[in-house]
Order: sequence, then structure tokens, then C-alpha cells
Amino acid sequence: MTRVTRCVRRRWLAAIAALVALAWLPLGAQQDPQAVVNAALAKYTTLKEGKNADYIPALARVDSNLFGIALVTADGKVYTAGDVSTEVSIQSISKVFTMAQVIQEQGAEAIEKRIGVDATGARFNSIIAVEAVRSVAGSGAPEMNALVNPGAISATSMVTGANADAVWAKISGIHNDFAGRQLKVLQDVYKSESDTNQRNQAIGALMFAYGYIKTDWKQAVDLYTRQCSIGVNAKDLATMAATLAAMGKNPVTGKKVLDAANVPAVLAGMATAGLYDDSGKWLYHTGLPAKSGVGGGIIAVSPGKFGIAVVSPPLDDAGNSVRAQKAIADISNALNGNPFAGTR
Ligand code: DON
Repeated sequence: MTRVTRCVRRRWLAAIAALVALAWLPLGAQQDPQAVVNAALAKYTTLKEGKNADYIPALARVDSNLFGIALVTADGKVYTAGDVSTEVSIQSISKVFTMAQVIQEQGAEAIEKRIGVDATGARFNSIIAVEAVRSVAGSGAPEMNALVNPGAISATSMVTGANADAVWAKISGIHNDFAGRQLKVLQDVYKSESDTNQRNQAIGALMFAYGYIKTDWKQAVDLYTRQCSIGVNAKDLATMAATLAAMGKNPVTGKKVLDAANVPAVLAGMATAGLYDDSGKWLYHTGLPAKSGVGGGIIAVSPGKFGIAVVSPPLDDAGNSVRAQKAIADISNALNGNPFAGTR
């Protein structure tokens, strides 16, 4: 090899090394995502705070020790630790994808005009919140949120279809596309929740009485219960979150599942009400649009960078997984995920 060839080769190698380093920069300075995910699992495995949801009997029976973490980057790299194959019910995380379906069909204004896009500051199934908002409803636009039960049941009612099967095909279809595989309803959870969802039936009836739901409210509550019973594991959830991070293109399957123009409205909804009455605290500490479910999952999105999901059933008083909140916050901080912090 001549001196000139050696020099050209060295320059090429240096350029390739710089490109590789640049590719990692958005994920944080020299942090190995796998090491970060492993560290979060090790740190919180022994944490025993919180308890499984028990107002749906099937959820009380889920193993409280289940703990899985997955991170999927916006360009489709997957990092996992712990149990990322056992399925839990998606529960309220489904609200994100049904909201996305309505926005994709009818535009972001449809949600804003019918339901509203405001924080309630109340528990996820608060009936007082419906009444409080109703007292100002006559004066202007609705002030609820599609990620809290009254708004979520209304959003489910807005998905169009000739009958319940046709509506369900769209709701399950968008969940499958986001996850990148055929998901199934966990029948034991669906039955258990259907037997005990009188409170959501009351909310559905009220929302119909007040004009937010314009179709069959019983069908809407049933389909909402069914969407909450879809089985997912941590890897499915992280892929769903990463699809939002990648502006609507599933980075694992490559399928475009939501128009990029519709992603910001979905993320704004998550930032406003994703962790219910604790949404403000969560945003203050992480800056991440996120969504929790009483099955123990939480998803979080770092736009343009990655989606993270953690599954761990024990919940705090607001209904959010204790370990998931801590693990996601640590991982995102280590990888510079906070969008308010700019690019470091
Ligand atoms: O509406 C319900 O009661 C449940 N199916 C979903 C609630 C839920 O996941 C609240 N999340 N933290």
C-alpha cells in the first residue's frame, strides 16, 4: 500500500467513525442504550411500592413482580431488559390510539370541538369532572380530554362504522399497525371488566345525555372496554411509542400508520393528560408525552428519538405504575430524551 493510499484510507476510516458517533448523538453523549435499560431494570427490580389495580378483578390476579422494559429508537433499533414477552391488558394506553384513529379520519379539530383538549386535574374516571365541565359547556367549546374516561368513551363513539364489528375492525386495526403485529383481546380481562364497568356505563350514559356521544352509548362503552382489554407486552408498547416518535411510521415494520401532520395533536394530548391528575408532575420532571394504563404499562415518547415502555403492575394512588415512572424517567434522562432540554 502506498503512502497516499494509506492516507486516503485513514481519512475514510475517520469519516466513518465520525458518522457513527453522530448517529448516536441524538440518543445522548456516549450512552449505550442497552446499558441504560439494564441499569434501570437492576435499580428498580427490588422496589416494592404500589399495588395492582383491583377494581377490575382480573387485574388483581396479574403477577406483581412482572417487570419489563423496552426502548425502540425512531430508526428501529430495539433494546430490552426483563420480561418483555408476557402480555398485560393495554387499558388506558389504548385511548391514545383510538384518539389517533379519530384524528386520522376526521382531523384534529374533531376531537377539540366535540371533546376538548384540556387537563381535568381529576381522577381518570371522575364523574364530578363531567359535571364541572358541563357547567361551562354552554358558554363555549367542550373542556374535556380524549385521554380521560368521559372523553375517551366519547372518542370511541366517534370512530365511524356501519356496526360494532366495523368500528372494532378500525380500532383493533390501528392498534395492530402501531404494534406491528396482530394483537388479541385478553378475554378474561374483557369479561372481568365488562362485569364490573358500571361506573363507565354511567359516564357513557351521561356523555350521551349531554350530547358529547351522538351514537349508541352502550356500544361505545362496550368497545371502549374491549380496547382496554387488548393484550400487549413491553416490546409492543415501545414499538407503538416509537411509531409516534418517528412521526407516524412504524420504525420496525416500516409501515406508515398515522399522517405525520396528526402526530403533534396526539402527543399534545398525552402531555396534557397522559398520567391523569399527575400529568403536570410527570411533564415537569421528564418533558415526555406519556400514557399510563391500570394494567401496569406506561409508554413515553421522545419525539424524533425513541419510544420507551415499561410494564410493571403495581400502581400509585393516581393509577400509574410506580416502577414504570421511575425507570422511564431514569432512561430518558440518561439518553437526553427531554424535548424541552434541546439537543445536547
Ligand atoms: O376505564 C377503566 O376503568 C379502565 N379500563 C382503564 C383505566 C385506566 O387504565 C386508567 N389508567 N391509568
